[in-house]
Amino acid sequence: MRRIEFFDTTLRDGEQSPGVALNKEEKLQIARQLEKLGVDVIEAGFPITSPGDFDAVSLIASKIKNTTIAALARAESKDIETAWEAIKKAVNPRIHTFIATSPIHMQYKLRKTPEQVIEQAEYAVKLAKAKVNDVEFSAEDASRSDVDFLSKVFTVAIKAGATVLNIPDTVGYAMPDEFAQFIKEVMEKTEGIERVKVSVHCHNDLGLAVANSLAAVNVGIHQIECAVNGLGERAGNAALEELAMALYTRKDFYQVETGIITKEIARTSSLVSRLTGMMVQHNKSIVGKNAFAHESGIHQDGVLKERSTYEIMSPESIGLDMNTIVLGKHSGRHAVKQSLEELGLEIDDERFEKLFREFKLLAEKKRSVTSADLYALADAQETSEKLTLNYWQVLTGNNLKPTATIGLWHRNGNQFNEELIKAAYGDGPVAAAYKAIDKILGVDGKLLHYSLQAIDRGEDSQGEVTVTVKFGDKKVAGRGISTDIIESSVKAYLQAVNRALDKGWIKIKERKN
Ligand code: KIV
Ligand code: ZN
Repeated sequence: MRRIEFFDTTLRDGEQSPGVALNKEEKLQIARQLEKLGVDVIEAGFPITSPGDFDAVSLIASKIKNTTIAALARAESKDIETAWEAIKKAVNPRIHTFIATSPIHMQYKLRKTPEQVIEQAEYAVKLAKAKVNDVEFSAEDASRSDVDFLSKVFTVAIKAGATVLNIPDTVGYAMPDEFAQFIKEVMEKTEGIERVKVSVHCHNDLGLAVANSLAAVNVGIHQIECAVNGLGERAGNAALEELAMALYTRKDFYQVETGIITKEIARTSSLVSRLTGMMVQHNKSIVGKNAFAHESGIHQDGVLKERSTYEIMSPESIGLDMNTIVLGKHSGRHAVKQSLEELGLEIDDERFEKLFREFKLLAEKKRSVTSADLYALADAQETSEKLTLNYWQVLTGNNLKPTATIGLWHRNGNQFNEELIKAAYGDGPVAAAYKAIDKILGVDGKLLHYSLQAIDRGEDSQGEVTVTVKFGDKKVAGRGISTDIIESSVKAYLQAVNRALDKGWIKIKERKN
């Protein structure tokens, strides 16, 4: 059976989603989970864009052994040199270089003639090939390019040593039948095409990224590029989980196989959602909260009689049966350790002791500690954040001005040894707390989005707050979980602040109490 390779770009195109800003430890955590999920290629980042991106790509390249690690580079020598420096420790490195080929991009963005674009593509692929055998060449905005011109560029790229040719629908403009026909024609007109793999990379501006990618599978391509939860520029990329489950559920139709371990899908989706702070919409295919929920009486009756009446795939097939662990205040170290293992959460001994202390505190506050709680506790151990919450206090009521005092610990090297405290008032207790944090930092964060939801069913569920905050012209998301919603709100804002500090978008100006 023909095999379709999965090229995951969650850490590159996905990280370009407005508001997403992952640090290198979080990126490594996601890369480890992608390796478990069985993707063939992890695009770890775009190393020229920032020292932080470079470090994250090198870290992933040195730790992930079973998956190809790709780094993105424009068709320019500095980008390609930097991409190579970042991935050279990988067991299977790939340089992914690109240049636009559509008339609009060539004329207005690149200000280059078609001949100059061909020359630059050839130069870039040759330079990349001198460093590594596996070279992917992407023709940006391919779907709006002239088919003869694109085939000419691809023929040159193959001669220069490209091993993978990628056909992006960069602006999500293509229609499935049209895209399939376009790819067929490009493949027919490109000399040497039988020696390379053909790939597609579809954006979701018209909601067709998955449909376009699947249409391409039908005309003989070898690789699809996608992102977990459909993250990516603007409306995002083709959603990995939708592609994987479409090819799995309709194997009879597509007649292809993939390396995806579908049972890892739920875990991967929730990890990406938790670390990026990008919530998954409830009715999202495959991984939305309601994707396997049957509400109407007729449906429930049908499912109780025979699941296949209304279920074309089982929740177990994406690993949802893993989420049933329940622990309580009498659970000991052994039970907690075993539950973490069952959830695939690897925590070293030192971190486990801290997690266990926090588990006990949580178990005192709520009747049962669930898988969702354990995921949240485990995430909190991964942090290398500069600021952490020491205490918060709010005074509020319908007849007084809500006032908050916030105490933060500031990390200096490996130690949190400086305490920063401020008080402020605001329109509500959360606004007051956010103002107090802004005062500590000497910044003016603008809250663009705030949402609160329970992480589990049941009255004693912890509350999860997600926020998007704008500092200057940079947007950043944050997420916080606690049994108290003011605390979740403060933690979410603090995570956004820590990410902005990590990226160098803000600095702590005011450090006197
Ligand atoms: O959308 C796009 O064209 C891209 C390329 C860099 C592959 O992300
Ligand atoms: Zn893209």
